[in-house]
Amino acid sequence: MSLKSAAKAVVPQSLLVARRKFLLRRTERRFRDASNAEIFSTVYERAHWGADAGQGFDSGDGSRDPAVVGPYVEALRTFLTSLAVKPDVVDLGCGDFNVGRQVRPYAAGYIACDVVPALIERNRTLTDAADVDFRVLDIARDPLPAGDVVTIRQVLQHLSNADITQVVGKIAQYRYAIITDHQPAGGFTPNVDIPSGPHIRVGIGSALDLAAPPFSMPFAEVRELCLVPSSEGGVIRTTLYRLS
Ligand SMILES: C[S@@+](CC[C@H](N)C(=O)[O-])C[C@H]1O[C@@H](n2cnc3c(N)ncnc32)[C@H](O)[C@@H]1O
Repeated sequence: MSLKSAAKAVVPQSLLVARRKFLLRRTERRFRDASNAEIFSTVYERAHWGADAGQGFDSGDGSRDPAVVGPYVEALRTFLTSLAVKPDVVDLGCGDFNVGRQVRPYAAGYIACDVVPALIERNRTLTDAADVDFRVLDIARDPLPAGDVVTIRQVLQHLSNADITQVVGKIAQYRYAIITDHQPAGGFTPNVDIPSGPHIRVGIGSALDLAAPPFSMPFAEVRELCLVPSSEGGVIRTTLYRLS
């Protein structure tokens, strides 16, 4: 057990939640007038999610831990190879690309986007990502690239409800959306608003339910694709939405 997990086990839950609310308010003040590019560039510069992946960009445990990434890649392999035609995949918020590079073989075209320009520059130099179209874009503000399947893995959990609403309004253009969210292990209060930034809803007992207000995302069919425990507590749930 890490020191952080041991501390969490002895500190009363109410104190942990109060501390996380304080951190969220601090994030809100710090980034009040910042763009998402500025916010997430700072997150990487300050290694908020870790400094283990090397080359200055680390998207966190959820992007690296084989116990979390392995089942996700296998679930995507099974789904993507079940489609009659190999699909074009759009990866929104691709991060350090440790996960995307493992999904890439099961797609026809692969467009990987992130809001951090320096990270996309670095990803373009990855030797095993030569056949990937890397783009800088803010998924809340910019038009989204065309494709068959969109993957949004552990990205919306970092965004405010206003930003998520913008994304949800644009994903009807895809046939399928595969969305991954870090959630509390038991029940949770859906869709509590947070400022866009390094923190996520799970620390305050919340997570995303895109079918519920304020998002009420329309879809034809929904199914859980993958559920794994996180080493940081809670679970990482991947949901497949058929959009048309
Ligand atoms: C926790 S990382 C997850 C990375 C990757 N999807 C994975 O699962 O390994 C979240 C990523 O989303 C990106 N991101 C956050 N807000 C974004 C936005 N508005 N537009 C595009 N990318 C965004 C961040 O820069 C970061 O790289």
